[in-house]
Amino acid sequence: MVPPTALSDVRAESARSAEVAAPAAAVTVARRRRRDVGRVPAWARALAGLVARLYLGRPDLAEPIAIRYRTVRAVLGGLLNELAYRWGRARAPVLLSANLELTNRCNLKCTFCPTADGRMTRPKVTMEEALFRRALDGAGRLEFALLFQWGEPLLHPDFATLAREASRRGVRTLLTTNATLLDDRRIAALLGAGVDRVTVSVDGDARTHEAVRGVPLRRTEDAVRRLVAARDASGSTTAVDVSMVVAPETEAGVDDFRARFAGVADRVQTIPLLVRGERRTRCREPWRGGLVVLADGRCTVCCVDHDGTLAVGDARTDRLEDLWNGPRMQALRRAHVMGDLPPVCAACAEYPSDAAAPRFSPTGRRG
Ligand SMILES: C[S@@+](CC[C@H](N)C(=O)[O-])C[C@H]1O[C@@H](n2cnc3c(N)ncnc32)[C@H](O)[C@@H]1O
Ligand code: SF4
Repeated sequence: MVPPTALSDVRAESARSAEVAAPAAAVTVARRRRRDVGRVPAWARALAGLVARLYLGRPDLAEPIAIRYRTVRAVLGGLLNELAYRWGRARAPVLLSANLELTNRCNLKCTFCPTADGRMTRPKVTMEEALFRRALDGAGRLEFALLFQWGEPLLHPDFATLAREASRRGVRTLLTTNATLLDDRRIAALLGAGVDRVTVSVDGDARTHEAVRGVPLRRTEDAVRRLVAARDASGSTTAVDVSMVVAPETEAGVDDFRARFAGVADRVQTIPLLVRGERRTRCREPWRGGLVVLADGRCTVCCVDHDGTLAVGDARTDRLEDLWNGPRMQALRRAHVMGDLPPVCAACAEYPSDAAAPRFSPTGRRG
């Protein structure tokens, strides 16, 4: 096992020696590429920082906000949706994104994942290309698409074709993977398809990661490093992040995780474990601007709904744009406003930890 500081040293050292050897122009190009990674404009970062700090009272949410809201249209759409949430409106103005679950099959059995621990009861399927295209056809102008939900997206045999199709339509794509299938061919396919951001899931330190995922951390770490190296060598702007679920079984590994990947990945993220609890307050999710298309086509409103019990329509027959303010979405928003929450929402909570900002629970002073 290479200690995290040694990894950073190796990286810093190779960057230094490359700078000595490379001509000035090449160094400038390399720096510009680094700066362009993820292509989040400076104004979007600054605005997200203000919103996270002053409005949400959670400075740690600045980065995820900047990643999502980085065009004028996304910011205005997000603002209008937030006003609809605040005012308890049944309609929310703008559909901004879609989660397109390429498959709900997986090759791992992570201890806390509904895909693997028996909670997900729907059949395991792989999304058909025609369904993927149909979903995008009916979605209007999306700002971005998450090419996963539950399951491992790189198990889809045509993931690169689908990612390219979304990019071709001007839809930014983000994908989270367990990295077990990240060989050189798939890395080249991801970069070639113009995926905007690849997030690799890592669960703490070597002990906790292997206990949760059943995969040695050094293999996952190696995949992250190969992906970053291929990205840098190709001049692609694909950002490479790592994300950890903070849970009772991983919490001890947070510091090691952060130290290990700082300076290796472009962003080191922690998210809380979804747990069953008691929610009495309305959730932002029905207003946030996104719909989830499960691999079989059913559309739901939130990733927490892993079995689609809140389904508001079906992308095989319905247009996402129509579903966004369709009767079932409006009924769900009204139910949240009235505090008459459906069972999935009433039992939705997150593991409380200072190491990860809640995503669905009330946030800070304005939640
Ligand atoms: C469901 S996975 C799908 C993508 C891929 N299979 C992976 O592991 O990255 C997406 C993210 O959800 C996280 N996740 C899994 N179970 C979770 C839970 N119970 N609560 C919160 N996040 C969870 C995973 O760690 C991963 O980062
Ligand atoms: S977290 Fe990802 S890799 Fe782990 S079981 Fe769930 S879908 Fe599979």
